[in-house]
Amino acid sequence: MKPAKINIVGMGPGNPKYIFPFVYKIVQNSDMVVGANRCLQNFDLKNKKVIPIQSSINQVVDSIQKNRDKIITVIASGDPLFFGIARTFQRFFSINELNIEPGVSSVQYLLSKLGKSLPDYHLNSMHGQTQDVSKLIQQYKKIILLTDKKHNPQMIIDELIKLNQFNFQMTVGYQLSYENEKIICGSPVNILAQLPDDPLSIVVIERKTECITE
Ligand SMILES: C[S@@+](CC[C@H](N)C(=O)[O-])C[C@H]1O[C@@H](n2cnc3c(N)ncnc32)[C@H](O)[C@@H]1O
Repeated sequence: MKPAKINIVGMGPGNPKYIFPFVYKIVQNSDMVVGANRCLQNFDLKNKKVIPIQSSINQVVDSIQKNRDKIITVIASGDPLFFGIARTFQRFFSINELNIEPGVSSVQYLLSKLGKSLPDYHLNSMHGQTQDVSKLIQQYKKIILLTDKKHNPQMIIDELIKLNQFNFQMTVGYQLSYENEKIICGSPVNILAQLPDDPLSIVVIERKTECITE
């Protein structure tokens, strides 16, 4: 018999109120659940085999391969295909082996709070990778960047200050949808003075003028 498809479900930005009811059902019906700790903690995983995604994705894929007779669900933060874990899994599994269920992405959430429209922005990620911020900002007037502990808002602000901080308006959204959510808007220098020490954030940059000196 063909093994069941591996579910990859979006859990939204983090607050359980953004988790669709059918996602809870899929997780409830699973034998094995995979995800980052932040994602796993939103679910009751009693009596399930739990594989936390900590570092090596190869080890996680290996565990999944060894348990293909089980019902397996991967919990992704936000929307699984938006710079998310589903893209990684597509490197290891064919689309026919995966059942991907969407979720509310962190960017959708932040833009709703700001009353801004997604198609106006160039979307990119510095999660686990560097980006040439000065090049991007010369190419696009409005940019949204996902960040991480190392490739963080401070790093982006340093670049913008080098270019000319008066040219930019920024927003940084921390811990979006959680009780300790913080959304800060202002000039790069202004924001620098208020940066929390927190790795879970998104940066929105808007260039005010057409011309930037290199
Ligand atoms: C691997 S990416 C996954 C993005 C996810 N698929 C989505 O749709 O939001 C993880 C990055 O998304 C951003 N992110 C996800 N959830 C967030 C939240 N609740 N608050 C702030 N940023 C968040 C952060 O930049 C984080 O480092």
